[in-house]
Amino acid sequence: MLETVNKVHDESRQGEAYAPAAEQDMTLAKKFYIESYGCQMNFNDSEIVASILQQEGYGATRNFEEADLVLLNTCSIREKAEQTVRKRLTEFRKFKRDKPGLLVGVLGCMAERLKSKFLDEEKLVDMVVGPDAYRTLPALISEAETGQKSINVLLSREETYADISPVRLDSNGITAFVSIMRGCNNMCSFCVVPFTRGRERSRDPLSIEAEARDLFERGYREVTLLGQNVDSYYYVNDDNTETINFANLLERVALISPLLRVRFSTSHPKDITDEVLHTMAKHENICKYIHLPVQSGSTRILQLMNRTYTREWYIKKVERIREILPECALSTDIIVGFCTETEEDHKDSMDMMEFARYDLAYMFAYSERPGTLAARRYQDDIPEDVKKRRLTEIVTIHRVHSLEAMQRDVGKTLKVLIEGESKRSKDDLFGRTDQNKVVVFPRENYAKGQYVMVKVHDCTAGTLLGTAVEFLG
Ligand code: 5AD
Ligand code: SF4
Repeated sequence: MLETVNKVHDESRQGEAYAPAAEQDMTLAKKFYIESYGCQMNFNDSEIVASILQQEGYGATRNFEEADLVLLNTCSIREKAEQTVRKRLTEFRKFKRDKPGLLVGVLGCMAERLKSKFLDEEKLVDMVVGPDAYRTLPALISEAETGQKSINVLLSREETYADISPVRLDSNGITAFVSIMRGCNNMCSFCVVPFTRGRERSRDPLSIEAEARDLFERGYREVTLLGQNVDSYYYVNDDNTETINFANLLERVALISPLLRVRFSTSHPKDITDEVLHTMAKHENICKYIHLPVQSGSTRILQLMNRTYTREWYIKKVERIREILPECALSTDIIVGFCTETEEDHKDSMDMMEFARYDLAYMFAYSERPGTLAARRYQDDIPEDVKKRRLTEIVTIHRVHSLEAMQRDVGKTLKVLIEGESKRSKDDLFGRTDQNKVVVFPRENYAKGQYVMVKVHDCTAGTLLGTAVEFLG
């Protein structure tokens, strides 16, 4: 089960779903079941939803058959993600026929994008709730219970759910997500997010720090600070006496304890600053790992994507990262087959993969999203078979690099935070290195939440294999 959490973590960009078990009172009278799709922010939003529902007397269940309320927290990023959700909703509609009192709600980005369409045309669900409207869930449930149309898709300029303490779902008790901002002000032409999650807003740093400290005191040893674009985090306190940028925030969280690892995601190449890189260098417990989506290696395509940087600028950024943080792992998102992409543009993307040699890459074929700048301005003119072939080429080249990245660690002794028991064997534990690589090693007398030095003697494509050689605490 523990590795399921990490699987979700890694696959969140593939539109996978998961139905969590919550660490909470299972005796509560009413039960809700929630499935989450899409990015880490969405998974964290489900934990906020769980907290709001718990206040209303709902307990979480892993079994939808015993639920009074079924919620799907949805993703709109690619068409395929939406198709998966639709299929699932159709299944729940069938199930509801035998259980008339059951309420089914759609949350998240699809709710925001399709609004009342779900209630009017498709009659698939009882409730439609956008990402900024979760506080109104109790009222919406009451409305739906009386058979009224139950919808709130208002986007907010202020909502950050700062005061809500998320109920950790399917938690391993060691690693947790903490949202630091919501929304996005970048207008990447392919992306639906600015439309589904609204304007960018930063959460009060005091509430972020308090949440991270509380997690640490409850035994958690790693927090991942989440935002669509964390490097543009910016908070001015109420009396205008202090401004806090992302580097400042990162430092504050890192100072909670040297035993608390800090990660963050996602960085926009245009916004990540030297100050952030130096802050990372200064604190051992800020993991040396940056997710830096390139999207394309061609300056012409980057321009059409409205990414506001060139190929050369991105290369310089990677060089800067390697200068300040020589050991830093890099991961990326890349899209093939964007509108008008030529073989030459594609070659630029291949060359970029070769240059950056990413430790991890999430690779996608372009999927046109209604309402986006690209859908309005350009034609989705690359045939599916060409997109598919280009994607295979990118995936193939990346496989070489990720395997190389694993092999580089063979022979090294690395610091590992233990997250739990290995999926394969009860006699083994697994954890992660600073660079986010999974390490499996014999359990001996170690336990989750501990740091150990592990000597790596072998690897597979996705896992380092080793033996613990020193206990750190
Ligand atoms: N088609 C394909 N991939 C997309 N992404 C965002 N929008 C689209 C789209 N329309 C990818 C980007 C982004 C990641 C989360 O999903 O690479 O960084
Ligand atoms: Fe999907 Fe983007 Fe919404 Fe996350 S923000 S759920 S990736 S559409």
